[in-house]
Amino acid sequence: MTIEDNIQNLLAKREEAKLGGGEKRIESQHAKGKLTARERIELLLDEGSFEEFDMFVTHQTHAFGMEKKKFLTDGVVTGHGTIDGRVVYIFSQDFTVFGGSLSQTYAQKICKIMDQAMKVGAPVIGINDSGGARIQEGVKSLAGYAEIFQRNIMASGVIPQISAIFGPCAGGAVYSPALTDFVMMSKENSYMFVTGPKVAKTVTGEDVTTEDLGGPDVHGKKSGVAHFIAEDEEEGMMLIRKLLSYVPQNNLEDPIVTECTDPIDRKEDLLNDIIPLNPNQPYNVKDVIYSIVDYSEFLEVQRHYAQNIITGFSKLNGMPVGIVANQPNFLAGVLDINASRKAARFVRFCDAFNIPIITLVDVPGFLPGSAQETGGIIIHGAKLLFAYGEATVPKITITLRKSYGGAHDVMGSKQLRGDMNYAWPSAEIAVMGPEGAVEVMEGRNISAIEDPGERAKFVKEKEDDYRNRFANPYDAASYGYIDDVIEPRNTRFRIIRALQTLASKKDTNPPKKHSNIPL
Ligand code: HXC
Repeated sequence: MTIEDNIQNLLAKREEAKLGGGEKRIESQHAKGKLTARERIELLLDEGSFEEFDMFVTHQTHAFGMEKKKFLTDGVVTGHGTIDGRVVYIFSQDFTVFGGSLSQTYAQKICKIMDQAMKVGAPVIGINDSGGARIQEGVKSLAGYAEIFQRNIMASGVIPQISAIFGPCAGGAVYSPALTDFVMMSKENSYMFVTGPKVAKTVTGEDVTTEDLGGPDVHGKKSGVAHFIAEDEEEGMMLIRKLLSYVPQNNLEDPIVTECTDPIDRKEDLLNDIIPLNPNQPYNVKDVIYSIVDYSEFLEVQRHYAQNIITGFSKLNGMPVGIVANQPNFLAGVLDINASRKAARFVRFCDAFNIPIITLVDVPGFLPGSAQETGGIIIHGAKLLFAYGEATVPKITITLRKSYGGAHDVMGSKQLRGDMNYAWPSAEIAVMGPEGAVEVMEGRNISAIEDPGERAKFVKEKEDDYRNRFANPYDAASYGYIDDVIEPRNTRFRIIRALQTLASKKDTNPPKKHSNIPL
């Protein structure tokens, strides 16, 4: 064999590997409107940056005649490349090889890139499109999943982990994405469930479609499992690139600050008028976010889930920040179980990766009622409280309007180590709203007044009195709980200056094995 023959042999093997399960199965993948594992990597990474590992790996199983069915790469394409010039590690499951099902060697390939990503300190992106455990491999496949789970857990809070679901993701396989920081699903072809429709029918008698059990609508709106729903795979890849622009490579680095030409002292007059005079009238807090942040760019996380609280990433003078905002436009911005869980996880992500947290408060309180209490609002609300109190990144809180009761404490209050707590003049910071407070304090006196007109007059007087005393920012400011009452149109400038001041902030928590967040 000549050297030229050797090279030709290598090139032929590479070509064979690139075909995965073969042209027919690639055609079938395309016919479903899905890209192949390699096409997905090409779309996501900077052009020409992908370096593949383990192209020549094959499975090692002999049962069920498998020794005659071997495909180079064994169903998952792994390696590293760059996104905007920064290193990322990636695995992309190849449905054309045994339905992307996971074998022992396949799991080893994923573990190899995860181990190296941890040593290098770079994000891992997993693209999921798989029939789950490779049935012919039995328990070796289950062990392979557990090896991956263990690495997901060790990597949590150290390197960012992102999962894209562009096909099936079923059974215990769902737990790897669930352990990562962000889950994205495409609108077409993607689904996630622990047990599929057939098992559901057998065990519970429930008739349910794949879509209704674990489609993107379910996980984007109801379960909260998915953080992003992409129109198609292409948009999904663009979203992942965008997401990474806000996030550092690992927990020891700060997020990258980019040049910003949006003036830091841009005044937004519309903010002076955005709060309606009637305290019960809603407005869209996203308009406040868009007015404050650089170029009105905001990447919303869990957009369709628990819309009474908004979470997402933006930049301020080029500095990445995480934004948490109560949304008066949806359920009056009340805190409930889902909103608490959603925001708690977001706050913890930001804190783990050194991203300052900006909190915009307009919250009437926690949602009352037996559904919330029996659902455990106590424990779920405590998650958000815990997340804020534990976070050591710069925390800047602006109270726009209501900040009542326990929800006031939770939403980045001064006593939870808020660094800069500002309020707009429209802020109302108190134990409860005027109507409720007067009802409790004056109930006996109110019912003693027989004439309805007199009674209404008395109630109004008492409410006005309460409003003047408490439903404003100055009572809280008189104790130093609010650092300053600011003109709304200057909010962008005040936040940016606070971020600049806090850039060198150092704060710690006491040494411990780990905290015991109320799960
Ligand atoms: C081996 C598999 C496979 C699997 C699919 N294939 N799933 N091979 N192990 N788990 C193979 C098929 O035999 C077929 O091979 C090819 O992949 C494509 O599969 P199709 O069924 O033709 O594709 P499609 O009609 O699109 O259906 C996709 C599917 C279905 C819905 C994913 O294949 C399916 O239901 N697979 C089984 C899913 C499952 O029950 N997995 C185990 C879950 S439990 P050929 O040669 O014909 O192309 C689990 C435990 C994890 O994963 C535990 C972790 C703790």
